[in-house]
Amino acid sequence: MTTSMVMASSHIIFLLFFLITFFHFPTTQAQTYLYTNCSSNKTFAANSAFQFARTTLLSSLASNNTDFYNATVSRGGDTVYGLFMCRGDVNLTMCHQCVVNATQQLPSDCRASKEAIIWYDECFLRYSNRSFFSTVDTRPRYGLLNTGNVSNPASFMRTLYDTMNKTADVAAKPAVGRKKYATGTANFSAFQTVYCMAQCTPDLSPSDCRRCLSGTIGDLDWCCDGKQGGRVLYPSCYVRYELYPFYQSEASAPTPTPAIVPPTNTTGSQGKGGISSGTIVAIVVPISVAVLIFIVGICCLSKRMRKNHDSVPEGKSASEISSMDSLQYDFNTIEEATHKFSQDNKLGEGGFGVVYKGTLANGQEVAVKRLSQGSGQGVQEFKNEVEVVAKLQHKNLVRLLGFCVQGEEKILVYEYVPNKSLDYILFDLEKQIQLDWTKRYKVVKGIARGIKYLHEDSRLKIIHRDLKASNVLLDNDMNPKISDFGMARIFMVDQTQGNTSRIVGTYGYMPPEYAMHGEFSVKTDVYSFGVLLLEIISGKKNSSFYEIEGAPDLLSYAWKLWRDGEPLELLDPTIRESYTSTEVMRCIHIGLLCVQEDPADRPFMASIVLMLDSFSVTLPTPSQPAFFVQSGTDPNMPKDFKFGQSTTKSAPMSVNEMSVSEVMPR
Ligand SMILES: *[C@@H]1O[C@H](CO)[C@@H](O)[C@H](O)[C@H]1NC(C)=O
Ligand SMILES: *[C@@H]1O[C@H](CO)[C@@H](O)[C@H](O)[C@H]1NC(C)=O
Ligand SMILES: *[C@@H]1O[C@H](CO)[C@@H](O)[C@H](O)[C@H]1NC(C)=O
Ligand SMILES: *[C@@H]1O[C@H](CO)[C@@H](O)[C@H](O)[C@H]1NC(C)=O
Ligand SMILES: *[C@@H]1O[C@H](CO)[C@@H](O)[C@H](O)[C@H]1NC(C)=O
Ligand SMILES: *[C@@H]1O[C@H](CO)[C@@H](O)[C@H](O)[C@H]1NC(C)=O
Ligand SMILES: *[C@@H]1O[C@H](CO)[C@@H](O)[C@H](O)[C@H]1NC(C)=O
Ligand SMILES: *[C@@H]1O[C@H](CO)[C@@H](O)[C@H](O)[C@H]1NC(C)=O
Ligand SMILES: *[C@@H]1O[C@H](CO)[C@@H](O)[C@H](O)[C@H]1NC(C)=O
Ligand SMILES: *[C@@H]1O[C@H](CO)[C@@H](O)[C@H](O)[C@H]1NC(C)=O
Ligand SMILES: *[C@@H]1O[C@H](CO)[C@@H](O)[C@H](O)[C@H]1NC(C)=O
Repeated sequence: MTTSMVMASSHIIFLLFFLITFFHFPTTQAQTYLYTNCSSNKTFAANSAFQFARTTLLSSLASNNTDFYNATVSRGGDTVYGLFMCRGDVNLTMCHQCVVNATQQLPSDCRASKEAIIWYDECFLRYSNRSFFSTVDTRPRYGLLNTGNVSNPASFMRTLYDTMNKTADVAAKPAVGRKKYATGTANFSAFQTVYCMAQCTPDLSPSDCRRCLSGTIGDLDWCCDGKQGGRVLYPSCYVRYELYPFYQSEASAPTPTPAIVPPTNTTGSQGKGGISSGTIVAIVVPISVAVLIFIVGICCLSKRMRKNHDSVPEGKSASEISSMDSLQYDFNTIEEATHKFSQDNKLGEGGFGVVYKGTLANGQEVAVKRLSQGSGQGVQEFKNEVEVVAKLQHKNLVRLLGFCVQGEEKILVYEYVPNKSLDYILFDLEKQIQLDWTKRYKVVKGIARGIKYLHEDSRLKIIHRDLKASNVLLDNDMNPKISDFGMARIFMVDQTQGNTSRIVGTYGYMPPEYAMHGEFSVKTDVYSFGVLLLEIISGKKNSSFYEIEGAPDLLSYAWKLWRDGEPLELLDPTIRESYTSTEVMRCIHIGLLCVQEDPADRPFMASIVLMLDSFSVTLPTPSQPAFFVQSGTDPNMPKDFKFGQSTTKSAPMSVNEMSVSEVMPR
């Protein structure tokens, strides 16, 4: 079985590993070469047009300092296609070095081949005379295993496949602007964690990527069954797993892990036959157990240290100590604070109840929401939910301070935010001038962070479901604070399932899949955020947008301007004096991405925060927004769209208005 294997390249691998393991303590890290495959039945003549084309192609690849690049070169009727990709966690310096080496190594390894591929740990590069961009290629494939056996192969492989599948799912559908690369871990036993990685070339579609990865995952069985580590490399994608962290964790600051050479009792290579013949050959390079333990030790240590660094405060320690008692307010206290819910203290009224301003005995100002609805929920459940929501703490969220229960009466007590809600200023022709572009941009970013926190950083994964201008309050420094999150939870509207018969939301901010079918997800909030973003830029309400220039609503109007190449026309005339056009353009672009029809196309909140923070993140092209109505229909009620009635009540004096939510039966 070894016959085909024992070839020159294998010797090189062996030597290389030997050298790395025993003599090489790198000062400048070199890439780790793995394997080359050259087509032997498709060749070209020396000094042919193809050879020149290849030379040009390789130098073009070598000169591009990115982590993925494809190129096409034609010479005298011959065309050569090529690309390279670096592993997702490899930095550009290392990547470039690897690619340069590849472009030098490949022509000498494969002198006259019309098709070839070279793999390293850090990158791979391939070319061919046929166009292979955006297609899934699974051959040649290459398997590499860590020869150590695991103690309980059957259950280990189950855990592995499960984790690999999940990792592959993420890799195939990354957040917008991210690579098709993912890592994942799972605890196999108390002492063993399996680390997985999957990556596709970015030119593949999500489904092609997943299909490709499924192939490699299936081949793990073929190459690495019961082994402590392994990888399967295809020309379009690859996977790898080990019992130690072999990749740089993304979030971690670049803690330069001191030269982690893989504990290389590894290395094998594929024989020439297909799967069926099952010819796999592994070259075993010994390494001392001590070194292995040492390295694993370092990895664990550095991992632990990293963990400590980026552990997000989740309000556990502090607020878990604060018991229910501190959250509970006495009814008399509340009555006193609000002068018995006097009309003078009323701040606003919404779907969940009336909001009053209150001043506690110690002088603290609070906003008190007297819930009107019989929620059908027991006192204990109510308390539990309040306690959970009260733990959500973020500077862009209005804090829930506590609650009060007295008989049928249920009351929520919030931090008081002195300024008015965003809609009060934004949609008022006289006041909107207070919000110059810098302030609006700050508001946009703050809202994005607050929602991201609700979606991802809090332990709860709260979907707001009623994000809108009147639910964004502004403090004295014009920092936005989102209110009314967690209401669905407090009201026992099913929060965990993606489908509900009760719609909580406001017309104009609801995406079609939610308004029509009750389907919600984090993308529901993304849609509302997009509407809000476009409202902030334009200073116009989506829900009361009258036909302008042939567009029935704000979204269509924004889309039309975008398509016509004049997006800046959307900008609120009152701030046309001073703004940064790149920022405005980017915000419009992001807004349009958020309101796309297909929830899957809308970016996640984390990506949005990233897009707003970094201009180097490239944005995909938006597709037509949902609710794009051809002209001639009722501007406020698109076709095929029926539910309750439109209900945006923004009380004109809505100072610190806590809710204008609607609970509607479907
Ligand atoms: C070269 O060999 C591969 C299999 O190794 C085969 O699929 C392909 O058709 C061959 N190409 C030519 C031109 O013979
Ligand atoms: C890099 O890629 C660009 C296209 O993205 C191409 O025009 C250029 O020739 C390549 N080389 C360099 C050195 O940028
Ligand atoms: C890169 O690949 C894409 C398809 O994935 C193709 O449309 C594009 O033309 C290629 N670029 C070059 C420079 O060949
Ligand atoms: C890139 O990564 C290599 C190896 O992982 C490291 O030695 C080098 O310092 C890194 N360079 C930068 C600029 O981070
Ligand atoms: C490529 O890098 C390897 C080490 O990984 C080195 O041995 C080889 O000489 C390099 N090739 C070229 C052409 O620089
Ligand atoms: C690539 O080259 C081979 C061998 O010369 C030839 O049979 C094949 O048709 C070529 N493929 C394309 C797409 O030109
Ligand atoms: C792993 O198991 C195989 C057979 O199951 C055995 O031949 C091999 O020696 C074992 N390797 C180690 C390192 O224990
Ligand atoms: C992983 O996904 C494949 C299909 O892609 C499926 O056949 C297999 O059962 C899954 N394995 C686990 C453990 O989920
Ligand atoms: C694995 O276990 C450690 C502690 O034993 C825990 O911190 C970690 O979250 C677990 N990881 C997974 C993926 O379950
Ligand atoms: C290269 O890949 C082809 C197609 O998978 C395979 O038949 C051949 O044996 C490989 N060559 C080497 C040297 O591994
Ligand atoms: C590596 O694996 C081989 C074959 O299973 C075994 O003989 C050797 O002792 C192992 N070396 C180390 C350092 O574990």
